[in-house]
Amino acid sequence: MSSNHKGLNFTLKVWRQKNAQAKGEFKEYPVSNVSPDSSFLEMLDIMNEDLLHKGEDPVYFDHDCREGICGMCSLFINGRPHGPGEEITVCQLHMREFNSQDGGTITIEPWRAAAFPVIKDLVVDRGAFDRIQQAGGYVSINTGGVPDANAIPISKEVADKAMDAATCIGCGACVAACKNASAMLFVSAKVSQFSLLPQGQAEKKRRVLAMVDQMDTEGFGACTNTGACEAECPKGISLENIARMNRDYLAASLSQEH
Ligand code: SF4
Ligand code: FES
Repeated sequence: MSSNHKGLNFTLKVWRQKNAQAKGEFKEYPVSNVSPDSSFLEMLDIMNEDLLHKGEDPVYFDHDCREGICGMCSLFINGRPHGPGEEITVCQLHMREFNSQDGGTITIEPWRAAAFPVIKDLVVDRGAFDRIQQAGGYVSINTGGVPDANAIPISKEVADKAMDAATCIGCGACVAACKNASAMLFVSAKVSQFSLLPQGQAEKKRRVLAMVDQMDTEGFGACTNTGACEAECPKGISLENIARMNRDYLAASLSQEH
């Protein structure tokens, strides 16, 4: 920590749960002398080092890239997925955001959704997202060798929309934010990134039907258009994708050929 910073002190109210069957509970842990420039995950590392020193079980939490690209970090902080701030992941969150307004106590919970069972503490099983993706979120046609970059003309506007949809990192914050635990924003982003592009057209109908079907099988709730998902998405995925997926789904359902 640089010498001109005064360390911050917090009480962390953390959800502890041994496994999916166990009854969880909040436990309080103090952390002291945290640099305002620390990331939230670095602050949790400090907490865990303290626990290990005392011979206690560290708090399990998911993380990987710590750069906002992998979608692994998944914490519900003070009642918000990924904590305070707009369009950032937990790993991009800094402790200076908590300096004054939070009164020193920070509540940390796992994503809560029936389709995301708790594995341990703050780690939930997001395998449901993988299974939705495996149901159809790919282009299976053998396209041969790598074509020249601009061989297939795509307008800038469409390419931008496909790229925006493709920025979804599969974190699950949209599910955690939704009072119905709906996965519509995630699924619609994964459907749109292909359905907008020429390469995705051949399997467009089959893809949307299979992915929505798998989403329903996994037990996610229905979408009631509250918009909480869009507001809390760290990648700014637009509700426009849900409207597009609904249109694609209806068209595919009415079609004779899938
Ligand atoms: S739509 Fe947004 S909130 Fe949902 S999984 Fe993708 S990046 Fe995360
Ligand atoms: S750890 Fe990869 S997005 Fe946060």
